[in-house]
Order: sequence, then structure tokens, then C-alpha cells
Amino acid sequence: MEFYLDTADVAAVKRLAAVLPIKGVTTNPSIVSRSKRPLSSVLEELVSILPADSTLFAQVIAHDAAAMVDEALHLREIVPSLVVKVPVTHNGLTAIKALTQQNIPTLGTAVYGAGQGFYAALAGASYIAPYVNRVDAQGGDGIMLVKELQRLLSLHCPQSKVLAASFRTPRQVLDCMLAGCESITVDPDVAELFLLDPAVDSALQRFDQDWTAAYGELKIY
Ligand code: G3P
Repeated sequence: MEFYLDTADVAAVKRLAAVLPIKGVTTNPSIVSRSKRPLSSVLEELVSILPADSTLFAQVIAHDAAAMVDEALHLREIVPSLVVKVPVTHNGLTAIKALTQQNIPTLGTAVYGAGQGFYAALAGASYIAPYVNRVDAQGGDGIMLVKELQRLLSLHCPQSKVLAASFRTPRQVLDCMLAGCESITVDPDVAELFLLDPAVDSALQRFDQDWTAAYGELKIY
């Protein structure tokens, strides 16, 4: 499966890429804005620190379909292998169809309903991003959305993958992976929560204490 970090924080990507088996990095306009840096320099720096076979995602901000396509072409000049994120709206679907005709890979984003995401897959999007936590936060069921979308894609559009997004808790992430999600993108702080259980530190301290008490120093040979 593909595991992505959802961030424009290059230092966090550098730190976590050494630890986690990440396939690449996803961004959106809010995430890039928080970095207060030009999108092009964020993308160029991410390319410079990630392995060559990594995948990067960046989103168009235009609302008009033709302008979305122009922005997509511009983004692909910065990173030729970039997957272009396009909101699944009327104009977004038009742009996804046009980009698909030009063999430019897209991700249909801002997905709050299975039918909405399914349209993006039919239009040719390679990835569909349901917003799990945002759906949960408005009283819906984000994991159910993921499951329905996966079922629709496996039945009718097997060339498209769910790329689940928007998480606040490790439980939401686990539930998506248990539902069989083929790809997922997680904020670095949420991704790291799997490794921050204090019980792990205390278990390791106990190993050190027991070893030192028996052998005097922390060495195997
Ligand atoms: O990029 C879309 C998604 O990751 C947004 O997540 O955390 O802002 O709900 P969030």
C-alpha cells in the first residue's frame, strides 16, 4: 500500500522519511499557505530530499476548468511526475477529463460523498481522496464513506485508488487501513502518534535496567 505524508513541512518530511516507509508527499492550498513559502520552492525542495521514485501531489486553485488545466500544466513543469489534485466539482470534473486525455494523472479531492468521488474515477482520476475526519466532524461516518467508495471503485473503476485523507486520530487511520485502503495520507503529527506510546519507553527502560543490573554495562559483547 502507499503511505503518504500530508504536509509542506520539509523538515518533518526529511525526519520521518528516514523512519517511515513513505511513498511521497501530498499537499493542499491550506497546507502550503501555512509554510508561507512559494509552492514551487516547497515542491522543488521536497523533490530534492525524497527518493527518485516518490510521488508528489499539489492542488490547483483556479475555479474555472480551463484555468485548472493551465495550472496543472504549470505544476507539471515544476515536477514532471506530479499528480495534480483537482476538487471534485462541476468544473473540476471537466478539468479531470481534459487532463486524463493528456495523460496527466489526477487526484479528485474534497470528497465528502461516495457518489461524488465515483464521478471523479469515471472522469479518469487515478486517486480519489475522501476527507475522513471532516466527514466525521460534521456528524457523518468517514470510514463508511471510504468503504463505499472502495466498493464502487473495485466494481466499476479498478484503475482508480482511494487515497484516504483528513485524519485527527490514529484510530481513524487504522480503521481506513483495516478497511483495505490502498493509499492514505496522514499529517506528520498524526503519523507519529503510532510511535509515541509512553509504555514503549518504559518497557525499553526496564530492559536496560535488568541488563545493567546483571552485566554491569549495556553491551552484548
Ligand atoms: O488535503 C486534504 C486533506 O488532507 C485535508 O485534511 O486535516 O485539513 O482535514 P484536513
